[in-house]
Amino acid sequence: MLVNDKSYQTVWMEGTSVFMIQQNLLPFQFEIHECKTYWDTCMAITDMVVRGAGAIGAAAGFAMAQAFLASQSKEKALLIREARQDIESTRPTAKNLFYAVDRVYRAGLISPESAVLEAMRIAREDAQSSKDIGEHGNKLIGKKANILTHCNAGWLAFVDYGTALAPVYLAKRDGKEVFVYVDETRPRSQGARLTAWELKNDGVDHVIIPDNAAASLMAKGKIDMVIVGADRIAANGDVANKIGTLGRAVLAKEFNIPFYVAAPTSTFDMECKSGKEIPIEERSPDEVLYQTGTDANGNLVKVLVASPGSPAYNPAFDVTPAKYISGIITEKGIIKAHHRSIRQLFE
Ligand code: MRU
Repeated sequence: MLVNDKSYQTVWMEGTSVFMIQQNLLPFQFEIHECKTYWDTCMAITDMVVRGAGAIGAAAGFAMAQAFLASQSKEKALLIREARQDIESTRPTAKNLFYAVDRVYRAGLISPESAVLEAMRIAREDAQSSKDIGEHGNKLIGKKANILTHCNAGWLAFVDYGTALAPVYLAKRDGKEVFVYVDETRPRSQGARLTAWELKNDGVDHVIIPDNAAASLMAKGKIDMVIVGADRIAANGDVANKIGTLGRAVLAKEFNIPFYVAAPTSTFDMECKSGKEIPIEERSPDEVLYQTGTDANGNLVKVLVASPGSPAYNPAFDVTPAKYISGIITEKGIIKAHHRSIRQLFE
């Protein structure tokens, strides 16, 4: 995607370093972060310098490749296994992370160079899948559409193009009148900060709404469809996505609004029979209690936005049962959120 007329991907590898757009500074500052070691890349995933299922998948694959490049000693096998554990402990929910680490680990058993090539292949595939998801999803969008999205499943959440937002970008390219309602997505506000920044950067009409405004907008007939991303999809079509997604899905059903999930096949976990088996990340209470923004001079500041001393609970994802989902937009086409259709994806 273009930022200030320069083409960027969210995360990439050059030599032995991994580079990424520093997402926790957006939309206030645009900077590139360098991770020189696999451990630096682990920290960047944990601290959400890079975030979003596809982007952390690619970053984790690169981290695994960095570990292979760095371990030439006799204890190589042990170090590599430890590195794999470290990478897999960064964030538990997005399947893409485990998918990428597994592929790069197997390739690295041949040679460190194979590990690097495999990590780069995964990043390329992630971008291509997103592009294809855009083409399929665009077919669902009419000449004029008001679309609600939650969190950020745009190009920042993948290596390029994005999933939930890819159809929107292509609809706009095709001259359709698209308008996006952007859930702010507390506590980290990926909607207000990242999705809004992406849409503005691309000239897509949009408005940020408080998380609790969706019901009233739907009741007033202002929303034609909902498209969200996914962090892990179980074999029965249950979908884990950013906390708050379940509420949107239940509302959409009540108001008879199509609710689509956009995700590549690398997000599906056929070993999870249902959403009950998907591990849900719990993050620091500080993300609820504090917000980061800029002061009048443009300096980044963190402020307390809750009653001092009160505790907070911060589950990062929820699970939307398959029955609420109108369809899943994948790179192979649009399928039903149903175990038979999902199985066919992998045949
Ligand atoms: O915690 P994050 O920002 O890494 O969450 C992931 C997400 O961005 C969303 O859940 C998204 O909708 C799916 S990932 C493309």
